[in-house]
Amino acid sequence: MNKMLTFETIRNNYEVQVYLEFTDKAFILVDYKDHGKGHALYAANIAGKILKCLEYSKREQELAKIAAFVHDIGNVISKYEHDQSSAKIFLDIAGESNYNEEVFVIASAIGCHEDKSIDPVSSIAAALILGDKTDVRRERIRTKNFHYLDKHFRVAAACQNVNILVNRRKMNIGLHIEIDTTICSVMDYFEIFMSRTNYCRRASNILNCNFELYINKDKFL
Ligand SMILES: [Fe+2]
Ligand SMILES: [Fe+2]
Repeated sequence: MNKMLTFETIRNNYEVQVYLEFTDKAFILVDYKDHGKGHALYAANIAGKILKCLEYSKREQELAKIAAFVHDIGNVISKYEHDQSSAKIFLDIAGESNYNEEVFVIASAIGCHEDKSIDPVSSIAAALILGDKTDVRRERIRTKNFHYLDKHFRVAAACQNVNILVNRRKMNIGLHIEIDTTICSVMDYFEIFMSRTNYCRRASNILNCNFELYINKDKFL
């Protein structure tokens, strides 16, 4: 890997592409939701957009996009502790001779993205977590017959429209979701996604923002 780490070089990196594709194939077999390129790109776009709206530097936006794009590549080995394996794989791809502060900022952001016991360790980590944990799009669910899904998947399947809006003046990050209440209730959403919602709130706080949640245009947070 050449020395200047960019989003495009990581996105087009052969190893990264193979790991995301392999993960996707393995998860399709067990009907598990998309953790491949679709999710990686969504998380990267949202992470970059949030830091851009909050007027972080272009380089910080890029580091957040890189971290978000590769945050789940460790699933190629196992879902168990994939945050740690993703960080390690990223370090291997970056290459020891290229280690610098940016590489470690990315690795530590990836490494903490599932650890809800501590606050995100940096603004890059916070942006990655918001990109990852707000990805409740129904497109990630592969089964078409939603009524036979367990509750977690049914809630995700009910999320029709997902939008992240950042208000720089009010320092708010808003997650706007439209839920199909014929598939699940708003209460089901909270039951399943409460810890993820709290994590989004803590990540927003690291960026000096409040986190707001709107479901079917009603404000819940
Ligand atoms: Fe993850
Ligand atoms: Fe993820």
